[in-house]
Amino acid sequence: MTSFIQLTDTHIVSEGSLAYGRSNTAAALVSAVETINARLPLLDPVDCVVLTGDLTDHGSADEYTRLRQLLSPLKVPLRAIPGNHDLREAMRAAFADEDWMPGSGPIQWHHDFGPFSMIGLDTLVEGAPYGLVCEDGLLFLERTLSELEDKPIVVATHHPWIRSGMVEMDRNNLRNGQAVLELLQNHSGPAQIISGHLHRAMSALVGGILHQVAPAPCHAVHLDQREDTTNSLVLEPGNVTIYNWRGADGGLVSDTLPIGSHPGPWPFYG
Ligand SMILES: [Fe+2]
Ligand SMILES: [Fe+2]
Repeated sequence: MTSFIQLTDTHIVSEGSLAYGRSNTAAALVSAVETINARLPLLDPVDCVVLTGDLTDHGSADEYTRLRQLLSPLKVPLRAIPGNHDLREAMRAAFADEDWMPGSGPIQWHHDFGPFSMIGLDTLVEGAPYGLVCEDGLLFLERTLSELEDKPIVVATHHPWIRSGMVEMDRNNLRNGQAVLELLQNHSGPAQIISGHLHRAMSALVGGILHQVAPAPCHAVHLDQREDTTNSLVLEPGNVTIYNWRGADGGLVSDTLPIGSHPGPWPFYG
């Protein structure tokens, strides 16, 4: 059975600094990589780790160099799409050695997992916190979906199309998510969307399409759904998300795995 791991919103900053002066994102990423590597022998084969944007906090070459260093111990291949904290050309240069990275244009790709396919879309609008899939991205999605006929599809985006109730996050979501949703609704096989950006584990069935948002290994966005609140970060435990394909009748089963080491395991009996 095929599986993959989603690692999102790593927000790497330059050495010696903390994101927002508080979040040790590098330590969180080190812990996430250790957690993934330690778990691999216990899991069904993991095809790759998918990074769903906000890889760095400011999109500088320095930050991408550090990100690649921190990711280098990973024992499985990776692929990535950008988030609002990334800069497209700096990210392209940092991953120029990867065969999934396009030489120009939006950072978008298709990956065949065998029983299902993933389409990674670029939602970055440089300088803006919200997301949009550009015209080229929508055409890429439409063309790829038609080539894949009735194959199960997972679309990966940084910005989600989900109403989290966190006012500022919802203001800065995927603004043309409806266009993506409609293309997926027209797909003849099953389809779902995985995203990041909210730094929380959230899911919703919208228009018959499952939308799933994965939490980050570092800080979370504070769950505060009041109208007039200040958008805040909180240092809740970090996570990565594992997805296991369980066949056409079982679907893609997800599990949020806390990073770090925890007491146990112990057999329940004996
Ligand atoms: Fe983020
Ligand atoms: Fe984001």
